[in-house]
Amino acid sequence: DTKRTKIRLEEPTDVGQLSYPSPSEPIKTSVPFQQPSSLLTFSYTPKHELVFNDSALRYYVQPPQGADLNYGYDRWIRRPDERGRIDNLLHAVSKARSRMDANGHDGKAWLSSIGIISWRGVITKIFTAPYEERDAWELNVMFRNGTLYFEEHLSEDRLVEKNNIPPRQRIQMYYGYAFESYCTSDSQNSTTPNGWGGDVDTNVQWCSVVKTKLGDTRIIIGGEVDCVRGKFTSKTDNFVELKTSLTIRGPLDEARFEKKLLKFYFQSFLLGVPEIVVGFRTPKGQLSTVQTFKTMELPRLVRDKEGAWNPLVCLNWGKDFIDFLISIVTSHTPCETDDEPVWRVKFAPRSGVTATLLTKEGIDEVVNGEDRVGFLPKWYFDEVTE
Ligand code: A3P
Ligand code: MG
Ligand code: MG
Repeated sequence: DTKRTKIRLEEPTDVGQLSYPSPSEPIKTSVPFQQPSSLLTFSYTPKHELVFNDSALRYYVQPPQGADLNYGYDRWIRRPDERGRIDNLLHAVSKARSRMDANGHDGKAWLSSIGIISWRGVITKIFTAPYEERDAWELNVMFRNGTLYFEEHLSEDRLVEKNNIPPRQRIQMYYGYAFESYCTSDSQNSTTPNGWGGDVDTNVQWCSVVKTKLGDTRIIIGGEVDCVRGKFTSKTDNFVELKTSLTIRGPLDEARFEKKLLKFYFQSFLLGVPEIVVGFRTPKGQLSTVQTFKTMELPRLVRDKEGAWNPLVCLNWGKDFIDFLISIVTSHTPCETDDEPVWRVKFAPRSGVTATLLTKEGIDEVVNGEDRVGFLPKWYFDEVTE
């Protein structure tokens, strides 16, 4: 392709930047986002192994009033923080593709029509960026057969930091999981004497993989779903997201909570989760009240408030971000390496994103001595390359 810019890779090369949208601009419309529909679900076992069944599915139950969220803290089995590899999502995509083939459809053609494959956490970060004032993030990006693949890039330092959380912060984190335990049961109508749903093991997760569309870009998103209300029917319409937050005591707390709702909103919206149950708690972990929010009503709830956010700003930004990436990956090519190109995209709050093409050393760091092409597992790369 003669239109492609050839890039020498002695050092990371800037290939472009996208500046930040101004959140204060009045925006009335946005690029359409299709209601996500379920492709498949899977579970992680206590060994954090992926199984294609719903063994980790949990059912919503009313949590007991005044529940103690410190309960069971010393028995918490905590999965260590690791690099958020895309492998298990690709197993699910591969499974969906072979199911399609088995049903007489063209799984390969279907897969090549997908514009983006990513975990939900990454897509949430992208969409909420216009309102992010504190945390920077970095992604690794690859492009293969028309599909963009995203992976969060965590530096060695950041990983160590994530695994050495100060005790006070660690117990606050546990409150979220304890709330999940009180709110769920592994069968549809069972309750235990104190309402405790079982000790927390964060290896165990139930995940949903959905397909959706932003403008013309088809997207496959995978993420954890906390529980379902009632019977599980393979659809997303009774999925429930559970959240905890400090009890609101005044206008300042309220504003802080409404700001947080943006993340709750996108996290849930992206997987088609229609309901968010928030457990308000004291600083010491006593559950005070529980309130249910309809995901789709959250934007209206915050609309005319101070510090309001507008999801349309986020969707438009998301579209610009995708267009920016597509223009970069289709117009640049490395000239001194046989490695599959990997791009590093860096987001800085109040500024925007920059993209660079990684050097051979950068790619080696991403591969990390594993059986990978860039950050894609070799088996998957071969599957989409055949
Ligand atoms: P809360 O959100 O109720 O505080 P999720 O809400 O996504 O299902 O995650 C469950 C819990 O995991 C959270 O409960 C929180 O304690 C913890 N958690 C999730 N993402 C986190 C993050 N980025 N940093 C710290 N803790 C996180
Ligand atoms: Mg969860
Ligand atoms: Mg949750």
